[in-house]
Amino acid sequence: MDEPKPVTRDRLLRACGLTVGYGFGPVLHGVDFELAAGEAVALVGRNGMGKSTLLKGLIGILAPSAGTLHVGGADVLGWNTSRIARLGMGYVPEGRGVFPNLSVRENLVMSARAGRDGRREWTLSRVLDLFPQLSARLHHAGDALSGGEQQMVALGRALLTNPSILLVDEATEGLAPRVAGQLWSALKNARGSGLAMVVVDKDFDALRACADRFVIMEKGSVAWCGRSDLLDENREVFEQFVGVA
Ligand SMILES: Nc1ncnc2c1ncn2[C@@H]1O[C@H](COP(=O)(O)OP(=O)(O)O)[C@@H](O)[C@H]1O
Ligand SMILES: [Mg+2]
Repeated sequence: MDEPKPVTRDRLLRACGLTVGYGFGPVLHGVDFELAAGEAVALVGRNGMGKSTLLKGLIGILAPSAGTLHVGGADVLGWNTSRIARLGMGYVPEGRGVFPNLSVRENLVMSARAGRDGRREWTLSRVLDLFPQLSARLHHAGDALSGGEQQMVALGRALLTNPSILLVDEATEGLAPRVAGQLWSALKNARGSGLAMVVVDKDFDALRACADRFVIMEKGSVAWCGRSDLLDENREVFEQFVGVA
């Protein structure tokens, strides 16, 4: 079998008619979703609307039962997570996934690698520049960290895979505003180096400041999508589907 083409910088991710569920039936009903090179997309919607399910379908944790899924031009439908990740997709799950019995350093470097095109933009020292407070914690166990530090480790670990696409679920959930601010700065920094990203969060002002586009989910479908700056003209959409203006 031919090796899949690397993720190219112009057409990174395309899902069409994606149907994903948990065994009892579909939760996502034919979702179309695209991500262009260097683009940041905010994925929002009330609880239970399918945001996490969409991310899990894109990274291969859940196998779509219908639709198409392309990453960098490669047809990845049915691929497992590690194979999709190796095409250049990083994933920060809700709840962070930090291993309590490994050190912070081990947690960070466990899946470190060059990007598909050989890039090594993200090194341990660059991640520590981004999150200086982790430097003093490198030899601590994962479960000795605060929630904010765990999220820094989860994000740092994903960046160390040198991805072209980053999926971040509930980026700042449960974090104090100051720590959340550090994570938003880090995401903007990563974006500034050309990384495309999909970010789920409930802080709409922070999302507006960092995302080019919003995708609003409602009951397993995309209810609205459009440029972040159009949201101000479509506040009623936001109120209807997200519950805040
Ligand atoms: N592990 C699971 N098993 C069964 N149903 C699930 C599971 N995770 C989520 N769901 C259901 O799928 C729907 C979408 O959930 P989810 O994608 O987690 O929503 P969101 O991330 O937008 O809050 C909900 O109805 C939820 O109850
Ligand atoms: Mg969720």
